[in-house]
Amino acid sequence: MTYSRIEIAPSILASDFAHLADEIAKVEAGGADVLHVDVMDGHFVPNISIGVPVVQSLRKATRLPLDVHLMIENPEEFIGDFVRAGANRVLVHQEATVHLNRALAMVREHGAEAGVVINPATPVAMLSEVLGAVDTVLVMSVNPGFGGQQFIPGSYDKIRQLAQWRARYNGAFRIEVDGGVDLENVGELAQAGANTFVAGTSIFHTPDPASAARHLRQRATGALSQKA
Ligand code: DX5
Ligand code: ZN
Repeated sequence: MTYSRIEIAPSILASDFAHLADEIAKVEAGGADVLHVDVMDGHFVPNISIGVPVVQSLRKATRLPLDVHLMIENPEEFIGDFVRAGANRVLVHQEATVHLNRALAMVREHGAEAGVVINPATPVAMLSEVLGAVDTVLVMSVNPGFGGQQFIPGSYDKIRQLAQWRARYNGAFRIEVDGGVDLENVGELAQAGANTFVAGTSIFHTPDPASAARHLRQRATGALSQKA
């Protein structure tokens, strides 16, 4: 299995929680590939968002794969709950557990795809021992906890480095980027090697989320064909 397809992953954190099903329908119409779901516990990050019951409801509201980003302490305690609730992909922070290998194995044992996430201050070298055990590596391009922050440019080099390593692993994992992704940077991010683009503000805080999602994809695929 190689992962090179461009994926647009709207982050519902930026959507109107009182009208979640409508918001999801908009990005489905815009060709979204995945729905990104940010889970925050007020400890690992300085904000609280949503948990297992919301994922259960989302599961009934969409057929899109649910990409559940755990920004919580003790992620191992909740992996099973989120997979049973309907998560297709579970993303665990490298910084959140001292037993990263075990946590990633747990995700797969429960039947979901396993992803690992690094904060902006964490070097990609911290992942060298788990690259063979993940379906996704997510590079945080803002400090996690809030939507609407500014993209951190150091993320490009991290993605380039990961893309080189991915070639050695026969393309065995996706490279996902989350935070401040917009029309200005999505092309360069695609050229650097990212293929899954999480976008909250640049999709939901626009008058037309469907066309915002479509434009992000066009810009990413356009940049890739320029590079080729
Ligand atoms: C931040 C979250 C992101 C957030 C991205 O902690 O992980 O998924 O929703 O939002 P934007 O696209 O607005 O930076
Ligand atoms: Zn996220």
